[in-house]
Amino acid sequence: MTKRFSIPVGITATGQHFPEKIVTNNYFAEYLDTSDEWITERTGIKERRWVTQGEASSDLGAKALQMALERRGIRPDDIDAIIVCTVTPDMPFPSTASIIQHKIGASNVFCYDLNAACSSFLYGLTTGASLVASGAIKRVAVVGCDVMSILADKNDRNNVVLFGDGAGAVIVEQVDEGYGIQDFEHRTDGAGGNSLYMLGGGSLNPATHDTVDKKMHYLYQNGKEVFKYAVKGMSEISRLMIDRNQIDPKELKLFVPHQANLRIIDAAAKRLEIPQERIAINITRFANTTSATIPTALHQALEKGMLSKGDITLFAAFGAGFSWGATLLRWGY
Ligand code: COA
Repeated sequence: MTKRFSIPVGITATGQHFPEKIVTNNYFAEYLDTSDEWITERTGIKERRWVTQGEASSDLGAKALQMALERRGIRPDDIDAIIVCTVTPDMPFPSTASIIQHKIGASNVFCYDLNAACSSFLYGLTTGASLVASGAIKRVAVVGCDVMSILADKNDRNNVVLFGDGAGAVIVEQVDEGYGIQDFEHRTDGAGGNSLYMLGGGSLNPATHDTVDKKMHYLYQNGKEVFKYAVKGMSEISRLMIDRNQIDPKELKLFVPHQANLRIIDAAAKRLEIPQERIAINITRFANTTSATIPTALHQALEKGMLSKGDITLFAAFGAGFSWGATLLRWGY
């Protein structure tokens, strides 16, 4: 049975923001045993943006949200809630959402952070849409912002080349009948927790000199395992959306997948028979920005005119947890 809201809810505006500093593959080739050729061939990534000292997730998220508000033609006071999807909050508390609230000057909101790793944005979209569908509130801002450059050991060639920093934001509210979110599905399997994790800095291993010496504040992963499950998870849950809603894959105007590796995207799209020109791709220039990949890839696809009112679009994500999900929309503006 489809999971559709009792009132039509969709995205009515998007925004994005990236730090100015561009880090090319050649930067790593200068001090690590790697090359532009290896990174391009194995990941599709050519460059990424990294913050400079003092620039945090909330700075990126606030700017992306300001852009989305401007595009929608509304003021910060016109939103009722801010959900910030991130694995790299400015600090454990207060929430990055409350820091963004203060930065943009939104006075009628409640705010909180949500963490489902690389699936965060889709979980946040469903959560925000559910609040609107409840009828209790009118507009929610869902922001995906991450500073992944802080999680990678700069001397670990396996991980450092894969990640970038950035933010995307969307405004979620009621749309015309027949438009907006048509269906969604999310899954979590904690058995995948030992394939992608960061051990230090939480309640299990609070920060000490020892945890820092042991590099426990960096991300670790079994790349091959994650790759395999990402292709399986994203393609199977996307197939579920297509079949459950009796969509002919040819009707699908745009596929917006999480951007972790171009080969993961290509393998999932191949299984789903989605042609290259209908896939929103920004990993080449921005790498894996975790919570920001889907909203920024969507924003850039809209800028290129890849989506118009009435078009069917499918979002799909996979990340640590393992967590994964897909959301099917009929574009509403
Ligand atoms: N430059 C050069 N060599 C590198 C390298 C780099 N940047 N990173 C890894 N290698 C090496 C490895 O050390 C390994 O060397 P070895 O055989 O001597 O041990 C070799 O390349 C092959 O590694 P392998 O794991 O087979 O490569 P791969 O084709 O699977 O690509 C990833 C590695 C990490 C790019 C790929 O597995 C991947 O993208 N996995 C998913 C990761 C991900 O997206 N995580 C976040 C999910 S939300």
